[in-house]
Amino acid sequence: MRLLILGTGGMAANHAKHFAAIKGVTLAGGVDVDPGRLDKFKIAHAIPNGFASLEAALNWGEFDAVANVTPDAIHHPTTIAAIKAGKHVFCEKPLATDYGKALEMTEIAEASGLVNMVNLTYRNVAQLQKAREIVTSGEIGAVKHVEASYLQSWLVSKAWGDWRTESQWLWRLSKKHGSNGTLGDIGIHILDFASFGSGLEIDHVFARLKTFEKAPGNKIGEYELDANDSFTMAVDFNNGALGVVHATRWATGHFNELHLRVYGEKGSVEVQHRHNGSVLRVVLGEDIETGTWKEMPVDPVPTNYERFAEAVRTGKNEEPSFRHAANLQKIIDLALVTERERREVPTH
Ligand SMILES: NC(=O)c1ccc[n+]([C@@H]2O[C@H](COP(=O)([O-])OP(=O)(O)OC[C@H]3O[C@@H](n4cnc5c(N)ncnc54)[C@H](O)[C@@H]3O)[C@@H](O)[C@H]2O)c1
Repeated sequence: MRLLILGTGGMAANHAKHFAAIKGVTLAGGVDVDPGRLDKFKIAHAIPNGFASLEAALNWGEFDAVANVTPDAIHHPTTIAAIKAGKHVFCEKPLATDYGKALEMTEIAEASGLVNMVNLTYRNVAQLQKAREIVTSGEIGAVKHVEASYLQSWLVSKAWGDWRTESQWLWRLSKKHGSNGTLGDIGIHILDFASFGSGLEIDHVFARLKTFEKAPGNKIGEYELDANDSFTMAVDFNNGALGVVHATRWATGHFNELHLRVYGEKGSVEVQHRHNGSVLRVVLGEDIETGTWKEMPVDPVPTNYERFAEAVRTGKNEEPSFRHAANLQKIIDLALVTERERREVPTH
């Protein structure tokens, strides 16, 4: 697979590193509207060809697939252009900025027969995959309750840089720059974590969102800081279980932490993913009488990057697909409705 990396900012370095390590994959080119960033990226990852626009790269055409690592609002037009030119697409999350656009991308991709996948990164967490296996095998019995959280702290810590001055954080705080705030940025990950890990679909949602005042007039330069910083969500799952899902950029002391707890009639599983590692703990069988939780060792799983390369090789699409990401996007759109109207809404 000859790969074009579209957008050469922060996350693109992960794509370059992971894809370059896969046998049979070559990094054919990079695209960025910022020439300085593109040059540095090409040098850092030994990429031979660079372009100032996707259009210029498509005119050249010497690649099979695109890793779309542009800001959220750019995914929609660029992904559609790439698919129309016959290129497979591995798109960053969220697939688009709303369900309508995500659905349009899905329908165009599915009609083309090309590979279409979304980088819901936490599918790479072996502990999450194992938790799903345990739950869907029936080992913990019927699921009654689910807790999921995604905690970040970059609004209070400079460990990842300074959001007051760096564009890669400022666009994430501004609706006009295409961000749905915490909900679109990390909400999509935790909704996937919760539903994939529990093997259940979310079928009702009620959310509260909050945007705190962060600068004079809540504005820095061209960026209006109006996208949400935190959300809490009460959900029903399709088997009748209840769940709480929440995320925030104000979780002081937690750089990037995801938790999932799935409670069943015969046992429970807990996944914790932190910047320094992941853990799966379970309570099963007789242990539920003593409340004894045990850590479960897991084998590594293929990454999304590896599964995308394999899908392009075989021509058979893999999960997480555009369709799956569009369905998650729908929940995000509905969460915004529930905040506005202060009422629960069904997802189907
Ligand atoms: N899966 C994950 O865990 C994860 C983690 C971080 C970011 N992301 C996603 O990755 C995407 C990029 O995030 P980032 O942190 O790298 O942002 P970033 O701002 O650091 O990088 C985006 C790059 O895209 C470039 N760009 C903008 N418009 C373009 C266009 N039309 N054509 C080509 N290049 C263009 C920008 O100049 C910039 O270099 C976002 O959608 C984000 O949500 C995903």
